[in-house]
Amino acid sequence: MRHQQTVFIFSILIISFLVYSIYLYTHLPFNSDSVDEKVLQGKKLWQEKNCNACHQIYGLGGFLGPDLTNVYSQKSPEYIKAFIQYGTVVMPKFSLSQQELSSLLAFLKSVDETGNANPKNIIIHSNGTITTP
Ligand code: HEC
Repeated sequence: MRHQQTVFIFSILIISFLVYSIYLYTHLPFNSDSVDEKVLQGKKLWQEKNCNACHQIYGLGGFLGPDLTNVYSQKSPEYIKAFIQYGTVVMPKFSLSQQELSSLLAFLKSVDETGNANPKNIIIHSNGTITTP
């Protein structure tokens, strides 16, 4: 009798695990193959130029400069280009081609669309995933 109960409880646990796993993997909150080539180039530049040493995106990175997760929608592309091309007293300038600048902007646009620097706006769901409005 005890043995049957143990098997029954384990079966329920395994079935719950499988149902929950299948549910999570079929309801992913993003489409991972939608990243385009230009955005990838911008991401590479972001890494090569080490922007992350001073800036955060998605809440991760250095603290010398401001968080850039939503800079694309908060400021204009011209404003961002000006910072990159001319720098300031504390931010170094970067000599990038027009094509590199536009890839970097495409990357910052995609970060802006997928991230939210203000945690107060984040909606937390019961399955542990979040939605950023
Ligand atoms: C050595 C540290 C450092 C690095 C590296 C750096 N930045 Fe900055 N950045 C800063 C600081 C500090 C500021 C704020 C400057 C100010 O207000 O004078 C800033 C400001 C900016 C701003 C304006 C943000 C706003 O909200 O006003 C943008 C856009 C920006 N940086 C983009 C970049 C990009 C893109 C890179 C990489 C190519 C980069 N930064 C690399 C330090 C850095």
